[in-house]
Amino acid sequence: MRGPRACPSGALGGTSANPANSWRLSRLRRPANTSRSSCATRRCTAGSTPTNRIPSSPSRPRRRPPSLPPRRPGRPPKHQSKRRPGSRNTPTPKKVSRVPLEPTTERFRAHRVEHFTESVIREMTRLALRHSAVNLAQGFPDFPAPAELKEAATRAIEEDFNQYAVTWGAKPLRDAIAAKYLRHYALELDPETEITVVCGSTEGMIASLLATTNPDDEIVIFEPYYENYGPDADLCSAKRRYVTLHAPDWTFDPDELRAAFNSKTKAIIVNTPNNPTGKVFTRTELELIAELCQEHDALCITDEIYEHILYDGAVHVPVLTLPGMRDRTILVNSMSKTFSVTGWRVGWVLAAPHLTTSIRKVHDFLTVGAATPLQQAGAFALSLPDKYFIDLAVHYAERRDYLMGLLRVAGLAPYRPAGAYYIMSDIKSIGYSDDVLLSRHLVETVGVACVPGGSFFSRQGLGSHLIRFCFCKKYETLEEAGRRLQRAFRGAAD
Ligand SMILES: Cc1ncc(COP(=O)(O)O)c(C=O)c1O
Repeated sequence: MRGPRACPSGALGGTSANPANSWRLSRLRRPANTSRSSCATRRCTAGSTPTNRIPSSPSRPRRRPPSLPPRRPGRPPKHQSKRRPGSRNTPTPKKVSRVPLEPTTERFRAHRVEHFTESVIREMTRLALRHSAVNLAQGFPDFPAPAELKEAATRAIEEDFNQYAVTWGAKPLRDAIAAKYLRHYALELDPETEITVVCGSTEGMIASLLATTNPDDEIVIFEPYYENYGPDADLCSAKRRYVTLHAPDWTFDPDELRAAFNSKTKAIIVNTPNNPTGKVFTRTELELIAELCQEHDALCITDEIYEHILYDGAVHVPVLTLPGMRDRTILVNSMSKTFSVTGWRVGWVLAAPHLTTSIRKVHDFLTVGAATPLQQAGAFALSLPDKYFIDLAVHYAERRDYLMGLLRVAGLAPYRPAGAYYIMSDIKSIGYSDDVLLSRHLVETVGVACVPGGSFFSRQGLGSHLIRFCFCKKYETLEEAGRRLQRAFRGAAD
């Protein structure tokens, strides 16, 4: 087995989900018969104070703050009785029943968020912290971001790039994005009308959907899927239609895809390389998707955040480059994964001018813009030589192989990803059939956090035989996780 290795400098310096599963995890943390609201009620009624309001002291007269204007003479304040207390015929003060208001009353919960639950992936990160577990759940690197990028960001702040940039992105970054796509895909883009800089792919996706869909439009999503797409569709009141990706190579049935398209289909979301499966969609598969989009007058919204993390000769094909797709594709991407800066929140959306106009309107009112100095550093990052991008894939391929080996030795049955930095594993081989129970056992007892597979599916029960690990971590981290897993399951594997 390989020993711990220092993080290579340069290329490697560096989430989602089924609501049904999120409730499953949360429910496991509380006694079964205690709901969130009943906990809140108990908090309010426990002890002698009926509410959490501070009781007013009867001995201290209330003083009127000096800043208030004097009261008009002859008119008692509304809340005071006109009769003097103690006088005859003093009416018994009416009992006003004050029901303490819960902050989560129905009144203030918009229908569009009714079914939202906490992201399972981010919840797993919190559990990992609580139980000091090795976090192989959330896809963020635990090694440093490239030094030259950090210097570029520091320089930008010192050179006073500290005020709002143009809302659709600082010119140097838009120019660098255009140059990058020309260099890597021979794709010509107009930085003035086809590129919008946003706060990460997360904003790019929701801004694109808000800009192009209407309530009751349908959106086709491949399942398992990155958890944000569900809530994104819900925020637009759009209906989701799922098409299954089948293990072990996560292919889909072309007839099932065809059947998912109809006159209500507004868009299909394609995430390639894919989280959580590691699938890289082939040109042939993408051509079928393109054909269906054209046949049904639908958009293809591509999430290409792992475009440079490819293994075993896999090739990334942006749908935007396919014939007939220039005007009906929206490409979403960001710096997060390629440059190991998931916290920077700098991304971009590429689309034809008629789409970009609407996307920019949503973006402007949602966030105004991404952080100005980090946009400057982004321009620097995108201009790094090809070697940076090649090394990135090579280093991640080594980590993939390393973790695959560790998981196998522990008795799990991992699926080999062709891209991105996640490994889906079958848990039946270690005698488990419930992803949530196993994930909970792993984080609390074994000390390794992963993501239950059901989080990436729309319906409860789907994916319950899977868990997902990420390997965008230092070798020491991966090795420690492997050691803990092997200690826990070696017996089951033998
Ligand atoms: C497929 C996919 N899209 C988008 C994101 C989030 O991207 P960003 O950090 O650019 O918002 C992630 C993060 O894990 C992801 O896996």
